[in-house]
Amino acid sequence: MLTKRRKQVLDFIKSFRDKRGYSPSLEEIKRHFHLASVSTAHHHVKLLEELGYLKKQGNSPRSIDLYESQPMVQIPILGRISAGQPILAVEDREIISVPQANIKGDTQNLFALKVEGQSMIDENINSGDVVIVRSQQTAEDGQKVVALINNEEVTLKKLYREKNRIRLQPANSTLDPIFVDPGNLIIQGVVIDTIKTLQNNYPNWESYKNQQQKSPTEFEANKIICGDCTTELKKLPLNSIDVCITDPPYNYEFIGHKWNVEEIQRRTERVKNSKTLVKHIPYGSGLAGGVRNNRWYERNAQNVKDYREWCSTWGKEVFRVLKPGAYVLVFNSTRTIAHVQVALENAGFYARDIIVWRKNSGIPKGLNFSGKLKKEGVEGDEKWKGWHSCLRNEWEAIALLQKPLINNYPETVKKFDIGLLHTQNGNGGFQSNIIENVSNKDKKENFNIHCTVKPVKLIGRLIDLVLPLDQSKIVLDPFLGSGTTAIAALDKGVSYLGIEINEDYCRIAQKRIDRYINESQQKLF
Ligand SMILES: C[S@@+](CC[C@H](N)C(=O)[O-])C[C@H]1O[C@@H](n2cnc3c(N)ncnc32)[C@H](O)[C@@H]1O
Repeated sequence: MLTKRRKQVLDFIKSFRDKRGYSPSLEEIKRHFHLASVSTAHHHVKLLEELGYLKKQGNSPRSIDLYESQPMVQIPILGRISAGQPILAVEDREIISVPQANIKGDTQNLFALKVEGQSMIDENINSGDVVIVRSQQTAEDGQKVVALINNEEVTLKKLYREKNRIRLQPANSTLDPIFVDPGNLIIQGVVIDTIKTLQNNYPNWESYKNQQQKSPTEFEANKIICGDCTTELKKLPLNSIDVCITDPPYNYEFIGHKWNVEEIQRRTERVKNSKTLVKHIPYGSGLAGGVRNNRWYERNAQNVKDYREWCSTWGKEVFRVLKPGAYVLVFNSTRTIAHVQVALENAGFYARDIIVWRKNSGIPKGLNFSGKLKKEGVEGDEKWKGWHSCLRNEWEAIALLQKPLINNYPETVKKFDIGLLHTQNGNGGFQSNIIENVSNKDKKENFNIHCTVKPVKLIGRLIDLVLPLDQSKIVLDPFLGSGTTAIAALDKGVSYLGIEINEDYCRIAQKRIDRYINESQQKLF
């Protein structure tokens, strides 16, 4: 799909070539668009090549050739369309160019509309995208249509014929369908393509209010939902949660992101008697020894790609339920944090920082090469004394991202009471992005068999950082585990909502919460 940015890059390359007779270098593209690096320019060019718009000849920097043979179709953007609202005409009529090859069939009678709102998000049509529509009065069941209802409202929905009525179905499981008498509906066109824009998640106040009215409103905080977070989050109202603090599974190479208990056991068994793999380090974690062949690297690359996609999937649901300006804080390993940041930016968030939680750690296991040579009686062990296959892992990463503001900080903070960072720390200093002096050795209740429990104090520090503390504020943790986020929220006097897929962990979390509440009541009396 040709995004707005890629289209701009393509137009720049074309006009540069028309003026000068040769194509711009990657450096010139970078400068023109104020890109962070030449590799970003390269990325755009590469994608344009893959989409067939450009052809690169040779390896010299001035070797980008336009794919001249690609004919383009010019389509007028007639207006904006949002769920249930009439088409708003755009003042200065824009034209969008689309490769003819992308359009199946006739290139006549096409028009384009800018989409507003969330009613088609499950079909990956987001606010800000442009849909290309073929003007026609008929459609088949399941097609995405632009429909005029009662001669007054125009809407973009999927069409289904039912007995005596037509169902206009939003592609958003939180929204209800519209039922229309066939006599009151005129099909104006069928969507044949979507042009993605990069700015498609940035809300404005009008669209916020509009979406809010259409979202489920039933909502109960201070509870654990036992289920898969991607499914469960869909049932929550839009823009209703103040912060998400979470610790998703991330030694995925070992356990997979489904946190499948049998798979963990299977893999633990597999490394138990291994002579090459280092015990207690997840198989495939990159720290352990063993074979490093193409297959190993390929599998790792695929794993991390799958992981990124998975993070985007739940990230989009978290994005939907958070209020504008709300933060999401996600724990991850130093190896994978960048992927989580990219995944969540793809879900609509804006990356703000990476917090370092400095923790205590011992000397890593892994490969002590000189020791190994010595044991094998091979010469040269002296040379490699003090060399190892990894560093001492002394910090854990917490990605800090934010849902876009409504216009600016003052407006957002006044409306939602969140959006800022509490930087006055207890020591009278300005809070840095390194969190120290929180022990990672919390005393664990004996019934808590969860293997990755975070310190309550650490989560408390994160809550302090992003929330003014009162009970109306809700902290979401879609990967609740044994319930640490819920305990920290109770401790800070704010509300929580936890989702956990594993029933045993749900029970453990509930027991911890009950025990915490009991103990605090006893302290009161
Ligand atoms: C790293 S642990 C969280 C531990 C937590 N911070 C604590 O202190 O107990 C991740 C949790 O996510 C859960 N999980 C994995 N996939 C899930 C999903 N799709 N939906 C909800 N929970 C999931 C796992 O069962 C696991 O308990």
